[in-house]
Amino acid sequence: MKIIVTESYEEMSKKTADIIEEELLANDNIVLGLATGSTPIGTYNELIRRHLEGILDFSNAKSFNLDEYIGLSAEDVNSYNYFMKDKLFDHINLPNENAHVPDGLTDDPENYGDSYDKLIKESGGIDLQILGIGANGHIAFNEPAEELRYTTGPVVLTEQTIEDNSRFFESKDLVPTSAVTMGMGSIMKAKRILLLANGLGKADAIAQLLNSKKITTFLPASLLLLHSDATLICDKEAFSQVNIEDMAGELA
Ligand code: F6R
Repeated sequence: MKIIVTESYEEMSKKTADIIEEELLANDNIVLGLATGSTPIGTYNELIRRHLEGILDFSNAKSFNLDEYIGLSAEDVNSYNYFMKDKLFDHINLPNENAHVPDGLTDDPENYGDSYDKLIKESGGIDLQILGIGANGHIAFNEPAEELRYTTGPVVLTEQTIEDNSRFFESKDLVPTSAVTMGMGSIMKAKRILLLANGLGKADAIAQLLNSKKITTFLPASLLLLHSDATLICDKEAFSQVNIEDMAGELA
């Protein structure tokens, strides 16, 4: 895993947008894998700015989001479908039909997940996957556990994730307890992966990822150490508990 440590959240967001720009300019048919949450918002703002300045054209691009809460409609302000429209899609020229976010209202999430994976495959696979990391090391909604999903489908959220994500909801009781998520296999098939992390809240997960020198399903992000083109881009706060001498990875 390559590692880029930045001075600030802004620099992390710009570096990420620089890589997306480089890949999009090289391939206007790019298939992007996108994440929700607080982490990528600065990157999305940068992409919007560059699009409005005429630098970035998404008209031939496609995107697939990682996950959605089960039970929330695309119109629900807490849904990831809504988040993506609000934070990115409404402000760039990615055609609606090319922007895919899992449907939280599916009545058969297992089969739905299979068709989502099939659609990714038919689109040529994900060229560049953007990921955030949970404080517990989760990736998408693949929560620490003895076994992780390989394919896309339903998962039950952990107490910590429900607690962490309750900041977006009026109360904790309103946070859905399950989600449809891309599985670890679906994520690992991406040709290139950018894992983003910022702030002290992620410092422990990043330290575990880089210092334990172990792959474990109890830290789902650690599977990314096996990917041939994964880069961690994190600010210095998220990196602050890493012991550089014991580090798995290559500091850029
Ligand atoms: C979001 C997702 C999650 C988040 C993670 C970090 O689509 O899949 O894994 O990336 O929970 O969330 P934030 O960025 O809000 O700290």
